[in-house]
Amino acid sequence: MTLIDGKKISQEIQASIAQEVQNMIAAGKKQPHLAAVLVGNDGGSETYVTAKIKACENVGFKSTFIRHPDYVTEEKLLQTVYDLNNNDDIDGFIVQLPLPRHINEHKVLEAIDPKKDVDGFHPINVGRMVLNLPCYVSATPYGIVQLLEKYNIETSGKHCVVIGRSHIVGSPMSILMAKNTSLGNCTVTLCHSKTKDLKSFTQNADIIICALGSPEFLKADMVKDGVVVIDVGTTRVASTETKSGYKLKGDVKFDEVAPKCSYITPVPGGVGPMTIASLIKNTLSAAKKGIYK
Ligand code: GUN
Repeated sequence: MTLIDGKKISQEIQASIAQEVQNMIAAGKKQPHLAAVLVGNDGGSETYVTAKIKACENVGFKSTFIRHPDYVTEEKLLQTVYDLNNNDDIDGFIVQLPLPRHINEHKVLEAIDPKKDVDGFHPINVGRMVLNLPCYVSATPYGIVQLLEKYNIETSGKHCVVIGRSHIVGSPMSILMAKNTSLGNCTVTLCHSKTKDLKSFTQNADIIICALGSPEFLKADMVKDGVVVIDVGTTRVASTETKSGYKLKGDVKFDEVAPKCSYITPVPGGVGPMTIASLIKNTLSAAKKGIYK
């Protein structure tokens, strides 16, 4: 069994981006600039956004952290989006999800200029991704693809089961894995809460991407020997063992599933750090105007 070290790969990607930023600045170019918008004070979202801002510092990007209280109006949030769209110094920005229920998430995401949508959530970027056109691929699926590539994991002709159909991970992941590209060419089954006899699919999977947000959902009896398991879950569960009072739990019962795997990602230290590396990579592309000229 090989443990996929997302933390290490993420650090390598960020180190190479840091070098590129130094070269850009030495050549008189502008420092890349990412903005992040956070609404409310959900602990998980706050941790993620703080980590994204910290990564900007590490690679030499400029960053702007915009906070709104959870009672912010949709109108005010949309005004923030318009301001960021029109701010020439900002290369890319994200609005951290989820948003409070009184705000229409789709309306906010559609208001983002696709050229600055480094999260790849705008319908234009999603559509371009489906059609194999240059686009920003959303950070978590893009991070997973890079992990599979780095570890030379064969995907062609394999059966990939994606569990979970969220817009952020499951749906785009299922599309990427089925593409007619060097990483792809899988036969993909997208399983979700209404799937009957889920085990019959997972037991026949060569690659399982588990993104449903249910701690320790995938058990040893649900997988075959030699499977590749990518665990996207990061649920906070109460713990007396940590200073913070919580621990991150993946969607996979790691101790019993890992011995059956050829490759597996840990939680933490697997997919999570790659999400950040991908966001930074997308922001660099935006700064270089490489995707949309
Ligand atoms: N919420 C959970 N994951 C993400 C992400 O990748 N981007 C944003 N904006 N919100 C999220």
